Amino acid sequence: MTVLTGAEVFVDGELKKLDIALEEDKICALGRNLEGEEHVDCSGKLILPGVIDVHVHVRDLKQSHKEDWESLGRAAIAGGVTTVFAMPNTDPPLDTVERVHDYRRRAQAAKINAKIYGAITSENYKDLENLASHVDAFKLYLGETTGHLIVSEKRLHREIFKIVTETEKILTVHAQRGGDPKDVTRHEVDDICYVLDLAAAYETKLHIAHVTTQRAVETILEAKKSKLDVSFETCPHYLYFTAKDRERHGAWLKMNPPLATEDDREFLWWALAEGLIDIVATDHAPHTVEEKSVGYEKAPAGVPGVEFLLPLLFDAVNADRLSLARLVEVCCTNPARRFGLSHKGEIAVGQDADLVVVDPDRKQAITREAVQSKCGWSPYEGLTLRGWPVMVFVLGRPLP
Ligand code: NCD
Ligand code: ZN
Repeated sequence: MTVLTGAEVFVDGELKKLDIALEEDKICALGRNLEGEEHVDCSGKLILPGVIDVHVHVRDLKQSHKEDWESLGRAAIAGGVTTVFAMPNTDPPLDTVERVHDYRRRAQAAKINAKIYGAITSENYKDLENLASHVDAFKLYLGETTGHLIVSEKRLHREIFKIVTETEKILTVHAQRGGDPKDVTRHEVDDICYVLDLAAAYETKLHIAHVTTQRAVETILEAKKSKLDVSFETCPHYLYFTAKDRERHGAWLKMNPPLATEDDREFLWWALAEGLIDIVATDHAPHTVEEKSVGYEKAPAGVPGVEFLLPLLFDAVNADRLSLARLVEVCCTNPARRFGLSHKGEIAVGQDADLVVVDPDRKQAITREAVQSKCGWSPYEGLTLRGWPVMVFVLGRPLP
């Protein structure tokens, strides 16, 4: 038995001075002066549930020069992320049972908990029932993006919503159309209304990826009132940057959906602090420095982020922009609840020993040299943040 001592532990919505005892992969006791064979001194630190990032692109297979499971694991661990949901727009895509199994096997190299999304395509959609028992959720692309998994035919959308609903899996949708950034931002509400209507018609468990604007958030909140089973995420880059920053930084801030306005960004922070946003996920989309250096039009869309999710939000806690309770909700508790991980997302006896130890006062600048992701850069380079993870436990195993 290992006992973590001296920390303030986030339990039942608040920080408490407690020891945590770990037995194999579980939390077996919480209390004072716990006995154990091994003690880890965590004085001056906070212990939170391990972060669950429900939107990560790992590029193992043919794009492993951008990221593979091992490098993704290093980046995640550095950022306090103990569980990721890997998107299926790999090359080749995760659209068959065999490919999903192969990906799961490869994911062991990451040393963290890996959940795998199944791809929905115009070819495989009739077979989703079969794929369902092998995947953790399904992803549908209604907008063009990396990997060309877009399904454009409206007739198929209805079929797909119906079939996925029968599998009882979560359907995560990339709802926003592609195209000129201004148009994408302007049309986000319409695109989201389109999927909300489908979810209402078939009673689908819908999760809307990377929401960027105030109007879209308000639209989803309105839909929730009519008992739709819908959740949504925003991403740290929509909290930190706007279309103005993209004008200055070009391809380095090119992603789908594109950055929105300063008003939208301000609104997202407000909504986050008010508890109106379900999940913050990174949409970690690694592309190399070389690939991003070819100008806006030609560069691939997407920015990396998994290793900075917790520091980016913890810094906001230190700045009183956000409470620690909200941070834990959107990064740990809500992702676990929504995606059916009943043994994760909170610190309690019997839960999985997925934990992050945070030094709340550590001040550190984000530099290119320190980036763990294989892509080798970060859109947050130059930012100095206060509050960093110092170690994690994944199913009781201390890392790095
Ligand atoms: C993602 C990628 O590169 O895989 N890119 C992005 O701009 N977000 C794909 C996606 O999530 O749309
Ligand atoms: Zn994505």
